[in-house]
Amino acid sequence: MCGIIGYVGGRPARDLIVRGLERLEYRGYDSAGFALLDGADTEVSRVRAVGNLSHLREAAAGEPDNGASMGLGHTRWATHGRVTVENAHPHISADGKIIVVMNGIIENYVALRRELQDAGVTFTSETDTEVVPNLIAQLYEGDLLEAVKRATARLDGHYALVIAAVDEPGRLIATRRECPLLIGVGDAERFVASAIPAFLSETRDVLYLEDDEVATIEADDVTVWNGDGPRVDVPVVREELDLEAAEKGGYETFMRKEIDEQPEAIFDTIADRLGEDGTIHLDEIGVDDPTLARTERVHIVACGTSYHAGLVGRYLIEDWARVPVHVEVASEYRYRTCLAGPGDLVVGITQSGETADTLAAMRVARERGAHVVALTNIMGSQATRDSDGALYTRAGLEIGVAATKTHTAQIAALALLALKLGRLNWTLREVSAVELADELRRVPEVIDGYLKDRQALRESEVVEAATRYADRDFFLYLGRHVGVPICFEGALKLKEISYVPTEAYPAGEMKHGPIALLEEGSPVVCVATDGHVFDKVVSNLQEVKARGARVIAVATEGNEEIQSHADEVLWVPRSPTLLTPLTAVVALQLFAYHVARARGLNVDQPRNLAKTVTVE
Ligand code: AGP
Repeated sequence: MCGIIGYVGGRPARDLIVRGLERLEYRGYDSAGFALLDGADTEVSRVRAVGNLSHLREAAAGEPDNGASMGLGHTRWATHGRVTVENAHPHISADGKIIVVMNGIIENYVALRRELQDAGVTFTSETDTEVVPNLIAQLYEGDLLEAVKRATARLDGHYALVIAAVDEPGRLIATRRECPLLIGVGDAERFVASAIPAFLSETRDVLYLEDDEVATIEADDVTVWNGDGPRVDVPVVREELDLEAAEKGGYETFMRKEIDEQPEAIFDTIADRLGEDGTIHLDEIGVDDPTLARTERVHIVACGTSYHAGLVGRYLIEDWARVPVHVEVASEYRYRTCLAGPGDLVVGITQSGETADTLAAMRVARERGAHVVALTNIMGSQATRDSDGALYTRAGLEIGVAATKTHTAQIAALALLALKLGRLNWTLREVSAVELADELRRVPEVIDGYLKDRQALRESEVVEAATRYADRDFFLYLGRHVGVPICFEGALKLKEISYVPTEAYPAGEMKHGPIALLEEGSPVVCVATDGHVFDKVVSNLQEVKARGARVIAVATEGNEEIQSHADEVLWVPRSPTLLTPLTAVVALQLFAYHVARARGLNVDQPRNLAKTVTVE
C-alpha cells in the first residue's frame, strides 16, 4: 500500500515526481503529495491533496514550480488517520528540517509519539508516519545517515522510507523493512521508488535494497550500508519491462485492457513449461523432483482473488495428482496452529508478491520445515525472497486494482503444478498427461476467440444483461464443484468495482440459508456450465425461479437446455470441466465490469482498495 518516490539529479524534480506517482497510483489513491527542496533555499515547498493524482495536479497548478532538482512524493492508502490533507505525505518534522515519505506501518508509534510530545514536539497529523521525521530530527547532529540509522533502530513494524534533510541538499536517504524499495540509476540522476514503473520511462537500471539496508542517494552516487554494519556492494540490474504495457493502449480502462490480455498472460505462463510429451518444466520452483514426488499434502495460502485461484488449484491437484490440498486465507492460516511439515508443499499465491498476510503465512510454514513456493507475478518480490523458489505467472504489469489477468495466469500455473505432481507421483499416466497438456495449451486460443467474438458482438449480451441489472442492490452467486470458486471470484469482482453487495455460495448450500434472501426479481448469477453437476445446478435454478428470482446463467455454448431455466445466458466456450474456471470467470469479469461502468464508476480505482496490501 502507498507508493513512494524520490528524485535527485539535474532536472526539475516536480514533473518527474508527479509522473512517477501516476504510475504508482494503483498502490493507493486516498491522497497524494510531494515536497521539493532547492539547495539554495531552506524552505521546503510542499503540495498535498485529498483524492487521486488529478487533485494533486490541480493543487500543484496553483503553485509555481521553483525548479528544485530534488524531491519526494507519495500516494496514500490510509491506514493510520483519516483521509485528510493533514494526514497526506510528505510529513515534515516540527522544526521544519526533516522530510519523510513512508509506505508501511510503525507499530510502536503511540509510545514514540508520546515520548516526542513530552520532549515538546507538536504533531499536525493523526498518522504513525509523523513520528519518523520528528524522531530523526531529535537525533540529528549534522549527519542524516547516522540519524536515520539511530531512528530506524527504534522503529517496530515494516516500512519503506525516503528521507531528506533541509541542511543536506542533494542527498536522499532510503531504507526498507519488508516493504519494497528500489533505486533507479540514471545519467547523473537517481530515483528511488516502491516499484519500477515509477521511473521506467527514465531508466531501466535498477538496484534493489534488501531488508534493513540503508542507502545514501546522490545525483551521481548510491552507497548502501547494511543497517549499522559495513557498506555492501549491490549490483545494478537492467530490467527489460515493457513501459507500453503500463499504458492503456487505446482502451478506456486498464481493467478492460487486462481482461483482453488474458490469452497472452496464460500463453506466456504455460508456453515453454509444457512439453509435447506432457512433461512440465518448472525450473525456478526450488524444490527438486524427488522431493516434489514425495509431497504428502499441499497447503495453499493466499488472499482475495489469489485465494480463489487457490480454490481452483485444489480441484486440479486433487484430481490430477491425488494429493490432498488444504486452501486457506492467509490471514487465518498465519494465526492458527500450523501443522505443515517437511513432507508438505506450501504454495503462497500473491500476484504482487507483497501481501503482508500471505508473506507471514509462508514464513510460518517455512519455519516448520515445509517446502515453500511463491506463486507470483513479480520477479524478485518479497514473496520470492521468503520462499524456497518461485512459480512465476507471466501476466505482465497489471494496473487495474481488480485482478483479472493475474488470476487466470495463477490458475494456469496451478494447472502446471498439478500436472507436474501427477506425473512425478505416477497418478497421471503419460497418455492422460499429454491429453491434459494439450487441453491446457488450447485455453489461450479458446479465450482469445471468445473475447474477439465478444468484441465483434460489442459484448452485447453481457452489456445488455449488465445494464438491465445494474441498478439492483444485491446479487446472489451460485455454483457447484469448480463453479464455486468461479462464483466467489465473480461476486468479489462485482462487489469491489460496483459496490453492490453480493453473496457467493455453493448451490447445494443455498437451501440452508441464502435462499431466504430471495424475493421477486432478485438477480441470481449461476455458473451452469456443462459437466457432471449440470443437472444438480439446474435443480437449484428451479428452486430459485420458484421464488421469483431472475437467473443470469453462465453456460456452455451450444447447451440449448439452459435457455428454459434462465432469464439471461452468458455463453462461454466449451472446455474440460476442470479448466472451466479459466473461461467462465472471464464472462463474470465482463459482467462485473459492465455493471460498474453502467453505474458510472471508476473501475481501475475502486474506493478504499489498493493493488498491493502490505499491511495485515
Ligand atoms: C483482487 O481483485 C483484489 N483487489 C484483491 O482481493 C487481491 O486479490 C488480494 O489483495 C491479494 O493480492 P495479491 O495477489 O497481490 O496477494
